[in-house]
Amino acid sequence: MSTANPIDTKAKLTLPGGQTVELPVLVGSENEHAVDVRALRDQTSYITYDDGYANTGSCSSDITFIDGEKGILRHRGYRIEDLAEESIFLETSYLVIYGELPTSRQLSKFRGRIASSASVHEGMRHFFEGFPHTSHPMAILSAMLNSLGCYYPEMTSHKRSLDIGHFDWAAAMLISKVRTLAAMSYRTKLGLPFVYPRWDLRYAANFLHMMFSEPYRDYNPKPEVTEALDLILLLHADHEQNCSTSTVRMVASSGANLFASVSAGVSALWGPLHGGANAAVIEMLEEISASGDDGRKAVESAKKGERRLMGFGHRVYKNYDPRARILGVAAKRVLTSLGIQDPLLDIARHLEEVALSDDYFISRKLYPNVDFYSGIILRAIGIPVDMFPVMFAIGRMPGWIANWREIATNPKMKIHRPRQIYTGATERDYVSIEKRGE
Ligand code: CMC
Repeated sequence: MSTANPIDTKAKLTLPGGQTVELPVLVGSENEHAVDVRALRDQTSYITYDDGYANTGSCSSDITFIDGEKGILRHRGYRIEDLAEESIFLETSYLVIYGELPTSRQLSKFRGRIASSASVHEGMRHFFEGFPHTSHPMAILSAMLNSLGCYYPEMTSHKRSLDIGHFDWAAAMLISKVRTLAAMSYRTKLGLPFVYPRWDLRYAANFLHMMFSEPYRDYNPKPEVTEALDLILLLHADHEQNCSTSTVRMVASSGANLFASVSAGVSALWGPLHGGANAAVIEMLEEISASGDDGRKAVESAKKGERRLMGFGHRVYKNYDPRARILGVAAKRVLTSLGIQDPLLDIARHLEEVALSDDYFISRKLYPNVDFYSGIILRAIGIPVDMFPVMFAIGRMPGWIANWREIATNPKMKIHRPRQIYTGATERDYVSIEKRGE
């Protein structure tokens, strides 16, 4: 991994009392500038304060570049639009993890590892018997991914050199098994028997087979369905230092193994402000539809601060999320090819139109994000709403793995340990329980 370089000019910071410090300025390969504050506390006893980390670069990384103002997303230099058009999920996963598009030999080796890792240990199947049918699949997924480490102790040592030696297999295993475990969590909920993976099916088709095939009937999706699913996964492959990826890096920085780190990523992803937003979008559109609103009332209540328009806004994009643009077109294509007329798509389009012509949304630069249209496609494919964040997790796996690798292979890696500004009580004397009253 390359590091950001310092430029000749330094930034000057003058503190109350007049003390001035000179801080190095770093520049990345896309000309992004940062003030390097690493020596600040040692030199001045001050720390920086940035609640929500909106202005904090927590690392330098070679994987993904986003220019939120221009709506640009590139993995390892390749435009997301080109990858969406030309590539497939597994090829993009390889690119994200290893830094280069694979040759045909490399891709077929990667595919072979993924295919041969698709089953999970029979012992793990018994875990599923203990989960109540009301379990959320994200809870199961997070627990199961961490449990995988129990079966591969050679990949979970506390010696980084050992972990890295097994990295290629561990990465392929996670990309493969996350899909199997996801399908198993769905079938657990419905009380259905598990379906074993097949050798002859491609990644997305194999997932749909494990979800929807029955002992008496194979599920044979139309090519448009598997292509759309593959596209959704590809578009989620990585997204820079978002909440779940930062979580993976945070956990990895303590020396934790890959399974434990990505399991934490699933938990971080679950929330409705992050990977849970795709499910929240559908719930919102259903609610709008049931109330007979055409989107206007929802926009008005968002403006009053009574609700958020789910699938709108982004910490980094202050322009249209390029993934949302691609998925908006794909949603129309998939629904047409399946002959589905989903009223939620009409409501979504209308909501977008209303919001994008409203000053509240324009002035705050709130545009549809990746979650706005992905749910409509997943719904058309027959994926239940509580599985939507799971689909996000399957797609994001290569990004988490690539980010874990950057941490694990960096000999200068420091444990992530932010500071705080303490605002609680100052020192006081202990009062015994007798003297505290009722
Ligand atoms: N609907 C209505 N108002 C909004 C929305 C929204 N979806 N998002 C932000 N705002 C307003 C917010 O109220 C605030 O207004 P004001 O300045 O008057 O207080 C302003 O815009 C800035 O919002 P913020 O909360 O400071 O922005 P943030 O960068 O902290 O939050 C976000 C980013 C994605 C959490 C937020 O836009 C949001 O909650 N969106 C809805 C949930 C969603 O779709 N999440 C998926 C994100 S994309 C997938 C991923 O990478 O996770």
